[in-house]
Amino acid sequence: MSEREPGSHAISGRIYARIAGTGSYLPDKLLTNDDLAKQVDTSDEWIRSRTGIRQRHIAAEGQTTGDLGYEAALKAMEAAGVSAADLDMIVVGTTTPDLIFPSTACLIQARLGANGCAAMDVNAACSGFVYALSVADKFIRCGDARTVLVIGAETLSRIVDWTERTTCVLFGDGAGAVVLKADSETGILSTHLHADGGKKELLWNPVGVSVGFQADQPNGGARIKMKGNDVFKYAVKALDSVVDETLEANGLTQQDLDWLIPHQANLRIIEATAKRLGMPMERVVVTVDRHGNTSAASVPLALDEAVRSGRVQRGQLLLFEAFGGGFTWGSALLRY
Ligand code: ACO
Repeated sequence: MSEREPGSHAISGRIYARIAGTGSYLPDKLLTNDDLAKQVDTSDEWIRSRTGIRQRHIAAEGQTTGDLGYEAALKAMEAAGVSAADLDMIVVGTTTPDLIFPSTACLIQARLGANGCAAMDVNAACSGFVYALSVADKFIRCGDARTVLVIGAETLSRIVDWTERTTCVLFGDGAGAVVLKADSETGILSTHLHADGGKKELLWNPVGVSVGFQADQPNGGARIKMKGNDVFKYAVKALDSVVDETLEANGLTQQDLDWLIPHQANLRIIEATAKRLGMPMERVVVTVDRHGNTSAASVPLALDEAVRSGRVQRGQLLLFEAFGGGFTWGSALLRY
């Protein structure tokens, strides 16, 4: 936006933010359930039956969230046919930024050579991509940006306690990205964001910069803590409610949806939401079996996989939803 006057992108009539291209990136290293069973008291059978997860990707030593996000961004920009000079804004959903500052968005911007455009991170844990998409959508709709790169990227492996079996089996690393472009005809129809900070201790990382920081520990001693059972129940209820809210806001019904692209935390949560929507699992994009829970990266990773495999087609109606630490949750309904 830097070289243009605020609002100068405004075009007459209604403006939508359309997904012009998608991309994703997964680190090479694979960690299977059997690998984990050598580290903690667990089994492939327990992990698969409770979560649906078979394996997850883990970033190499020194490989950062920004590195993963940059690779996903390059692919999304190539698919959208845009160059760094076209970008008006970069929004990165992440809860595992490379640094406290500059933001991961600024680090990626510099590598892309997109200097001058706005760049910011959004921290909404596993809902980070849906939140980031919503922010980008608003900038496009109000005419302040025409082309926005939205990334969800995480290296959760850095804040997982690898001795704690109740959490370490769940998470993985990765990144996904989309390029949004202003369009008069199609795109994001609505986004719906929610949070409940009162439940923070059910799913959190109790260590930060101004609380609990341990200078002698890797990452200051940061560790994911979760009461899985409580989170599970709350997540199912919140997701049920937000999908109803989304359809109602658009005067649509479950039958109008072509694809559900959910946050990939647990196959049982995904199945519960699909059941609520009356959607057969063939119309739900599932990657949790191969990626684990990649937090803010999971929705754009699943989207990119479904687009590149030819399952998701132009003109189809897609519902994204996510739930995560905060608690935060949200949805986006869009015509692809
Ligand atoms: N291997 C073997 N046994 C295990 C493991 C493991 N990896 N983990 C827990 N257990 C044991 C427990 O100790 C417990 O044993 P007990 O009965 O002797 O006490 C038993 O298995 C059952 O444990 P539960 O926690 O009740 O298992 P549950 O069926 O709830 O599954 C899970 C746990 C998978 C974590 C589930 O609750 C879940 O997916 N929750 C939601 C997670 C989520 O959606 N997070 C949101 C996003 S994350 C983010 O925002 C960063």
